This record gives sequence, C-alpha cells and structure tokens, in this order.
Amino acid sequence: MDWINIALPKGRLGEKAYAMLKNSGYPCPAIEDPGRKLIFENPEKMVRYFWVKPSDVAIYVERGAADLGIVGKDILLEYEPEVYELLDLKMGKCRMAVAGKKDFRDPVGKTLKVATKFPNITRNYYAGKCRDIDIIHLNGSIELAPILGLSHVIVDIVETGTTLRENNLAVHEEIVPISARLIANVASYQFKDAQMGAIRESLQKQVESND
Ligand code: PRP
Repeated sequence: MDWINIALPKGRLGEKAYAMLKNSGYPCPAIEDPGRKLIFENPEKMVRYFWVKPSDVAIYVERGAADLGIVGKDILLEYEPEVYELLDLKMGKCRMAVAGKKDFRDPVGKTLKVATKFPNITRNYYAGKCRDIDIIHLNGSIELAPILGLSHVIVDIVETGTTLRENNLAVHEEIVPISARLIANVASYQFKDAQMGAIRESLQKQVESND
C-alpha cells in the first residue's frame, strides 16, 4: 500500500469533507483537535490529510503534492486545472450569480463594469452573451463594489443570500450551480488506482445515502 495524500480546504467545506471521509472509514482523530498542525496521518489506512487554502487545493492536486483533493466547482471553473473530477459530493452547495443593486438595469451600449474574485468564469460567461465588459478583480468583500459605484454588478458565490440581502443587493442572473467535488491527480490515479478508487467508492455510497 502507498500513502494517499489528501488536500482538504480549510474552513467549513473542509470540515464537512473530513466528516464524509471519516464516515467512509478513513478517520484521523488528530485532525479533530488540530492546534496549528497542518498534516495528519492515519497509518493504518495509509491516508495523510492536510489543510490548504480552498483556492489552492487544485494546485496541490494538479502538481501531484496531493493525490486527492476536495474542492468547490467554482475553483475548478476558475482555474481549469488538469485533474480528474471523480465525484460530485453534493454538499457545499451554492451558486455563481450576477448580482447588483435591486434597481440595476444593464446600461445597454456601454461597457459593463463587473467586480469579481472569479475573472475567468466572468469572462467566459459574458463572452457567451457577446457582452462587452470591464473586469475589476477584487479579493473579497465584493458586495461593496456596486454600492460604492466601483462596478455596475458583481459575479460572486451566493449561498444563503444573506450577504446580498443585508447590503440591499439582489441576484439578477444565475450562472451555474456549485458543489464540492472529489478530484484526483492524473498520474497518481493510474498507479494508485485501487486505493484511490476505494476511497471514491465509499464516498459515492455516502453521497447516495444522503440523497
Ligand atoms: C462568500 C461570497 C459572499 C458570501 C455569500 O464570501 O463571496 O460574500 O460568501 O454567502 P451568503 O449568500 O451565505 O451570504 P466569503 O465568506 O468567502 O468572504 P469574502 O467576502 O472574503 O470573499
């Protein structure tokens, strides 16, 4: 047996992801009391977990530092990494949407200013509509942009809708539904296929039983 390295996204999604792995028979008690440690091992199951920034999971997997990873579909659409997408975990559900002030109307004939953390998704979406845009790339608190007149609209994740509501903004267009995915490094999936396939199967059973 080989060690299977698994990159988990730090935060709420990562906690849900670890819970699914634990229930699939791949627990690692140390991870539940982490302190500042970043790597956790279960020698019996030969799995090694590590926490990374959610937007970095795909990089670890693409470059082979992790064999498997759990990542939001938003990150896969934004960075288009060369990885295998093995399974839709059907959790961490939200949507990518265009939002703006409640009374927003598209200024036809003018370039649309769009603030976002997701420039690639934004570019692809508006290219599909042949709409001329100016992307303003921000790193957080995107909702401020239309309020302060920095942009006409935003392209961002909407989960509960609370952030938009509390800032008097509304969804104007839905781009794509998002959920967490199990991804694999292309090379590892060839030579560690038995172990990685077993992890995929146990997770799939859980996805089906949650349905
Ligand atoms: C995300 C997203 C929205 C918010 C949506 O931000 O960018 O701001 O969550 O969630 P809601 O619909 O449940 O309110 P995040 O918490 O990642 O922080 P950020 O502003 O730093 O990007």
